[in-house]
Amino acid sequence: MSGRVVVVGSANVDLVVDVPRHPGPGETILGGELRRTPGGKGANQAVAAARAGRADTTFLGALGRDDAAGLLLASLERVGVRTDLVARSDAATGAALITVSTDGENAIVVAPGANELVVVDGDAAARLAEADVVLAQLEIPLETVLAAAHARRRGARFVLNAAPSRELPEEAWDAVDVLVVNEHEARDLARLPEAADGAPPHAAAPGATASDGEVPDDDPAALAARLLRQVPAVVITLGGRGCLVAERGADPVAVAAPRVTPVDTTGAGDTFCGVLAAALADGAPLADAARLASAAGALAVTRPGAQDAVPTAEETAALARETYETVGER
Ligand code: RIB
Repeated sequence: MSGRVVVVGSANVDLVVDVPRHPGPGETILGGELRRTPGGKGANQAVAAARAGRADTTFLGALGRDDAAGLLLASLERVGVRTDLVARSDAATGAALITVSTDGENAIVVAPGANELVVVDGDAAARLAEADVVLAQLEIPLETVLAAAHARRRGARFVLNAAPSRELPEEAWDAVDVLVVNEHEARDLARLPEAADGAPPHAAAPGATASDGEVPDDDPAALAARLLRQVPAVVITLGGRGCLVAERGADPVAVAAPRVTPVDTTGAGDTFCGVLAAALADGAPLADAARLASAAGALAVTRPGAQDAVPTAEETAALARETYETVGER
């Protein structure tokens, strides 16, 4: 293991019910048995980074003092995630109410609880300063995300999975080295208003013009070009269609997804982010890291649960080798 990853983010107990379809407003429907499983975007990503077997992984988060906290710590520690920087508080551990339909699609509502209390203190800052990759999402306070980004050492990469999407201040855009978003999040972020004088706030990406304020919703390359004005690299995940890797000054790379039959998509994006971060920390180029991440994400959707569905490094490598010509293995 040569890389070091710190994942800063949320941890939730997932309360999951399988449903024939998602209920509409005001509607009650009957589902299957309730499952209580470890989740939360941050903790899921930490588990995936550790299971990738390429990076020493720390999770920086906050839990309550309840049963759910025990479930989450056990899941993180089982795969070797360092949990010494996980704060404990009297707030309830975060919880997510999840319905999963028969086609594997989910709908999620999060009660953040202790996730609101994640902070970067002195010990955390010291660990962040040793990391090769700092990975964060947006289920914790934005100030904490920014503090984590600022605590990284020069040369370390800050990877932001902007999920759930929200408006980002200029300071956040400036901190990001690699932005990872799905198509919905990309659309939300790409519709940012132009700067007052009509000029883009950052250097334009190749092919982007100041007049392309309206970004076609269905064109990932256009979305990526728009986002490259804000950040140096973007990965847009496209579900079963794979992902698009775009870096300033280079042609975008389309990465196909391995063909699988989805059972539960919950946490598949988190698996993708965690594996991507671990591979980057271990020195893989972004497109190779995205291939491994796509293989891991594809395996994750074939299994129920979030952390419980994260594949091993061997499983991921085997599927990646079957699917791609180069996979960035050591
Ligand atoms: O991305 C999936 C995760 O989102 C779930 O595990 C849930 O806890 C929410 O954070």
